[in-house]
Amino acid sequence: MNEKRCSTATAAVYGSEEMLRPAPTTTIPEEMTMPEIAYRMVKDEAMVETNPQLNLATFVTTYMDDHATRLMNEAIAINYIDQTEYPRVAVMASRCINIIANLWHSPEKSESMTGAVGIGSSEACMLGGVAAWLRWRHRREKEGKPTDKPNLVISTGLQVVWEKFCKLWQIELRQVPLTREKRTLCTDDALKMCDENTIAVVAIAGVTWTGLNDDVEALDKALDDYNKRTGYNIPIHVDAASGGFILPFVSPDTKWDFRLKWVVSISTSGHKFGLVYPGLGWVVWRDKSYLPEEMSFSVNYLGAEVTQVGLNFSRPAAQILGQYYNFIRLGRKGYENVHRNSMEIARYCHERIGAMPYFENYAKEVVNPLFVWTMRAGYDKSAKWTLYDLQARLQQSGWMVPAYSMPKSIEDMVVMRIVVRQGMSRDMADMLLRDIEDAAKELDKLTYPTNSRLQYERQERQMGKVFTH
Ligand SMILES: Cc1ncc(COP(=O)(O)O)c(C=O)c1O
Repeated sequence: MNEKRCSTATAAVYGSEEMLRPAPTTTIPEEMTMPEIAYRMVKDEAMVETNPQLNLATFVTTYMDDHATRLMNEAIAINYIDQTEYPRVAVMASRCINIIANLWHSPEKSESMTGAVGIGSSEACMLGGVAAWLRWRHRREKEGKPTDKPNLVISTGLQVVWEKFCKLWQIELRQVPLTREKRTLCTDDALKMCDENTIAVVAIAGVTWTGLNDDVEALDKALDDYNKRTGYNIPIHVDAASGGFILPFVSPDTKWDFRLKWVVSISTSGHKFGLVYPGLGWVVWRDKSYLPEEMSFSVNYLGAEVTQVGLNFSRPAAQILGQYYNFIRLGRKGYENVHRNSMEIARYCHERIGAMPYFENYAKEVVNPLFVWTMRAGYDKSAKWTLYDLQARLQQSGWMVPAYSMPKSIEDMVVMRIVVRQGMSRDMADMLLRDIEDAAKELDKLTYPTNSRLQYERQERQMGKVFTH
């Protein structure tokens, strides 16, 4: 190799020796690299594979306005936990918790309502779950009863965080099956799974798999009777990862939050419909009495006594500033406008897709700006393709529209999902619908089944399903 070409200030980035070497994969390089070259190597590897706006698989924010982006970029070096250096960040986080708690009709009357910030809904759900487990333990210990068999009840429409929570904290996960008829958590079935060891029933507002909402009001009513009858005091945690920022704005009269007696904690993702770039979740408790004391940890080595509730310690502050900016910038009206547009575009796509001869919608209604559809009954028996083929075709035009099999108990059903987020216009929806229709028409002309279709039929035949070709 020519020594002179190696990482000198005058080396052309793509004329440098480093650009001929494989990237480090296992050991740290011995020598330094020019920043321009290191930057290009990392940047080129991280090149986007799809246009984020065309990624309809993710729930997470891909658009914030220029001021929000500037604010967050300027805060990139701020560590939230350094509250002596940046005391106002903690104040703003606390204001965000108040604002969210009030959006969810918290009964708590305090200038500092009870909640915590997390990296996402996963951390927020875990904190809600841990609090429920500890409260249950304390009650059982007081009553002199065993505490070795806690369980949690939730539908099979759960997000993987609840499996993680139950595995990590050694809590039995009791899953209420979703079926073709029972598309959200069935209250009666849930109560049948409850007993004295149930730490909480988790209801989901915005089920990841379907976009539907569990009926929290019905669950609350049934649990009220149940708790009166048994004396168990089983609470509800609402996993409102998506719904937490949708329901207050598009469906303010739906009771799913602290207006209901047994809802004692709610979690959400600030980085989904809270409209902030990734890295933000929130959990709020009904009041202080629902947050066990041992979940607050204090340290004194940062220049003051810092008390925190969370699984993480250091975390970026930028998202908190982004959330507070959004609350000021958008206000209730702005959130309403953004989410109503997304809902309208989702409903428009739902109607158009449901009218195509190949598909049927999983549910009649759209209650969050996302929905799933499947192959039309009858057509699914004769088609030579699957929704996975459609996913691949759409990918060729840049769209990321995921096809997947539904959760346990209805896993034989393959669906496709669209999440409409800020950044999707009616014009884009029309482009998408045209691409879906064109791709489906092409696939419909196939005379031989695709590989994915052959594989699907093999699996289904083993389960006794009959096909018409
Ligand atoms: C219902 C539900 N709960 C929890 C999560 C986890 O959220 P996060 O990615 O913010 O950790 C998700 C993510 O999609 C979700 O849909």
